[in-house]
Amino acid sequence: MTDQAVIDVAAAEDARDVYAPSANDIIDLMMGILADGLDHPEVWSQVGTFLEHLPDLPTALSSRIDRTWDVADRTKLVVLLIICFAARGQTAFALEQIEPISIQNSLSTLVQGAVFYLQSLADPENPKFDLSDRFCATPFRKFDVLDGSTHLCCASWIAESAGDLGAADQWQDVWNSETAQNIRASILDGSYRYCNKTACPQIGASTLPTKAEMAARSEKWRDIIENERSELPEGPERVTLAYDNSCNLSCPSCRTEKYGANSADRERFDRLQENAILPMLAHSQLVDVTGSGDPFASKNFRHLMQRLTAEDYPNLRFQIMTNGMLVTPREWERFPSLHDGRVSFMRVSLDAATGPTHETLRRGARWSVMLDNLAFISELRKQGQIGHLDFACTVQVDNYKEMGDLVDLGRHYGADSVNFLRITNWGTFSAAEYAHAAVFMPSHPQHADFLAAMQDPRLKDPIVGLHDLSGFVAAKAA
Ligand SMILES: C[S@@+](CC[C@H](N)C(=O)[O-])C[C@H]1O[C@@H](n2cnc3c(N)ncnc32)[C@H](O)[C@@H]1O
Ligand code: SF4
Repeated sequence: MTDQAVIDVAAAEDARDVYAPSANDIIDLMMGILADGLDHPEVWSQVGTFLEHLPDLPTALSSRIDRTWDVADRTKLVVLLIICFAARGQTAFALEQIEPISIQNSLSTLVQGAVFYLQSLADPENPKFDLSDRFCATPFRKFDVLDGSTHLCCASWIAESAGDLGAADQWQDVWNSETAQNIRASILDGSYRYCNKTACPQIGASTLPTKAEMAARSEKWRDIIENERSELPEGPERVTLAYDNSCNLSCPSCRTEKYGANSADRERFDRLQENAILPMLAHSQLVDVTGSGDPFASKNFRHLMQRLTAEDYPNLRFQIMTNGMLVTPREWERFPSLHDGRVSFMRVSLDAATGPTHETLRRGARWSVMLDNLAFISELRKQGQIGHLDFACTVQVDNYKEMGDLVDLGRHYGADSVNFLRITNWGTFSAAEYAHAAVFMPSHPQHADFLAAMQDPRLKDPIVGLHDLSGFVAAKAA
């Protein structure tokens, strides 16, 4: 909430004896604050107070919903009505009501913030819901560069763009833009209002350090936290390149068809790389290629990786995220800049432990090639060419039964970690298709089986990371 909005809420309360705001005045006030589409925990927690003074608030909200055709506004009004149920003690009912809205708006910071708030009411002792004293360093050290937007975290967790690096005079203008500073301020004020709270694995697994713990780590963090610095003199430590979607596969979770950049896109990416990415990386420690397509399928990323030599970028290390299908001995030889331990982390996405599931979920992949390449990658790890080998699985209805076997596969190929994350709707699914894929939703017909699969003892292996699925381990299979 902005300072002005805080004042307005207080003023509305103080002045109620004088002019007694109506339920509709309060709805206008709340809708004004929610207009930015961000999470507003301070609004959700005020609803109970408003209800005490204005018992007709739910009726006024219902009538406003009936008269509102704008989908985004209607969703906000429905969310407010659901929060009213929770404020009257009907938390379980409120959670039930918000679930279909949550599925349809899985990328909405506002809706997911409201879901998070309702979950906090249902589980008040759980420390993961109190972010007021937690600190997330990501927006202070990370930059995700997309085509036309730049984000201070993974773009599906902080959707708000800090600016377009391709259009900026210099990368510093975007790194310290007004929005970038607002995002950092929202971490410092504990609202985390730009963050998708149900999607962020750090929030989900309650792994964020406290501000005091972070401040004790170094003088830099102490200064940022104690002086509430949102403008940073130094550039990003870690840059994720995600502007080129070119890929050799077309996984249904990610895209509806195969994509390769055309020559106009390639020229644009060349300019972006020359003007902003290469100068910025001179100050960075880690470059992450890629969250958008595949590093070995993109001509631009291939060229860039070859330019980032140990001679010119001695402090830079690579994090490679790949579907693994192109990581053959012959390809590896074409990238000397990746050799000699410069790949500190390689994530291979493996959404299955069997051929049929892999070839369905990784459309265009061949399981036999994947197994050959995994053997080669495993060898690179043993030789120390790769510092850390990670397998990642996007959990969904078609693969949840293979999670335990995937841990065995990780052990077999010497993976240092095997990470499981929920599938989110990146716009490739209709609401019904996503509801079918999202087996972790309590209303899913196979949810009980999913809970049973989550109790597989192999998921307790120390190399396993469960992130936003960790809450299901303690749950008993129905
Ligand atoms: C988009 S891919 C890009 C890197 C590389 N091509 C790969 O597959 O690893 C990055 C990660 O996103 C995951 N992913 C794909 N679709 C997803 C979805 N709908 N929700 C969550 N993660 C998804 C992939 O499994 C992969 O681990
Ligand atoms: S391999 Fe990665 S980038 Fe390519 S389609 Fe699949 S998830 Fe998307």
